Amino acid sequence: MTHEEQMVEQGLKTIDEARQGSVLYKEAWEETAAPGDKRFYIESYGCQMNFSDSEIVAAILREIGYAPTRNIEESDLILINTCSIREKAEETVRKRLRVFETVKKQRPGALVGVLGCMAERLKKRFLEEEKLVDLVVGPDAYRDLPNLIGGAEEGQRMVNVLLSREETYADISPVRLDSNGVTAFISIMRGCDNMCSFCVVPFTRGRERSRDPFSIVAEAQDLFARGYREVTLLGQNVDSYKWENPETGAVVNFAQLLEMVAQTHPRLRVRFSTSHPKDMTDEVLHTMARYDNICKYIHLPVQSGNSRILALMNRTYDRPWYEERIRAIRRILPEAAVSSDIIAGFCTETEEEHQDTLSIIEWANFSMSYMFAYSERPGTLAARKYADDVPEEVKKRRLNEIIRLQTAVSLRHNQADIGKTFEVLIEGDSRRSSRDFCGRNSQNKMVVFPKKENLKPGDYVHVRIHDATSATLLGEIV
Ligand code: SAH
Ligand code: SF4
Ligand code: F3S
Repeated sequence: MTHEEQMVEQGLKTIDEARQGSVLYKEAWEETAAPGDKRFYIESYGCQMNFSDSEIVAAILREIGYAPTRNIEESDLILINTCSIREKAEETVRKRLRVFETVKKQRPGALVGVLGCMAERLKKRFLEEEKLVDLVVGPDAYRDLPNLIGGAEEGQRMVNVLLSREETYADISPVRLDSNGVTAFISIMRGCDNMCSFCVVPFTRGRERSRDPFSIVAEAQDLFARGYREVTLLGQNVDSYKWENPETGAVVNFAQLLEMVAQTHPRLRVRFSTSHPKDMTDEVLHTMARYDNICKYIHLPVQSGNSRILALMNRTYDRPWYEERIRAIRRILPEAAVSSDIIAGFCTETEEEHQDTLSIIEWANFSMSYMFAYSERPGTLAARKYADDVPEEVKKRRLNEIIRLQTAVSLRHNQADIGKTFEVLIEGDSRRSSRDFCGRNSQNKMVVFPKKENLKPGDYVHVRIHDATSATLLGEIV
């Protein structure tokens, strides 16, 4: 695993990444500040949904006179948006709370708030053990922040972890934090109704609900007008997006939503994440084929290559079904790249079943994967029904085999692009050198190439690939 992949696995952003701000990015922070504003500091962990939620939180806080700061020492409100997906994610949060404790000693008036997916599960613990925590706020309760902060300012310890069946924050226009000014997330739905046996998300984020499509399109239009050139539509299972017009009863499904967003502007790229193999329809694939600006990239987590394990995981598809979905992608979108999430060492997994996971990585030719060792989560179906019986060192070994194979497959996938020319959307300077730009192609591969005059982030260029690593394509503008 590369360092970067490890950071992703732990839900961390590198300090470098956090500091490597373009001019646009710094302006985004400054423009929200007015004299007399209080300052809040926020750290986000976990998936893109959580990062997107932090931008909703920033918008709600702006209404009550809080502007963002990247300097924790000058903040009046310190927030941590937490993730529960694996044990390690929770440990990270606990470590950060120890750091906040020392900051708070120097700024006795500052408030500390725990937001996000750990809030519901651990509210009691935070209130009883974490004396420094002033607020605990679940993912559906952010509108209550002004009231909760008010109470906390008066010295009360405030909690709201209620989950909602309706809340989508549809009317809130997010304040883009840590933005490169080119790419942005748009949350299209919340919660999850699947009950994958390993997964804590249905418990931390509640029932699935879809956001009004017109508010989604309006957000995309606004982003385009402000210079953004790419949006990623976010949901735990975007293919089950379904919005019913309360007046007419007309239904908008994901394929239709995708089309509506794609029509915003041909120069606005559209991506989405995450697709679920059981729900991804040919209709979505055909819509993708019809629009050049819908990126030819699908994140389609397989989790395991073995049908018995998939049944235990309650993924509701088996290996032949997954393979059929991959064939449909190859047929309808021959140029598309597919990536995956993979879990090593799920309950009762045998050596042979692990081999099936290796073989599907090879067969499906994933361009990349996020790979994890199974981590039992309290309260999930698997924790209640199955023994977490694969020893830790076996999980680690299997995970390493998976990572080694995926790295080789990614390298091969990228090397196959040498000699090709791709349209790339410039996102900013490359991490290594300010003489190079970086940006992605439609297949979501990071492309690095020397700068040319008069080009800037947000511009499209054609880049011819002459070299590749397992993570990056290298090329020249043509
Ligand atoms: N909604 C997405 C995934 C959300 S969680 C989907 O259904 O694909 C992101 C990834 O974390 C999952 O795909 C899974 O690979 C991993 N994950 C979730 N729970 C886990 C657990 N208990 N242990 C290890 N990995 C887990
Ligand atoms: Fe979790 Fe499954 Fe829902 Fe994804 S689809 S969030 S893995 S329950
Ligand atoms: Fe973590 Fe919650 Fe996302 S548990 S992965 S932050 S939905």
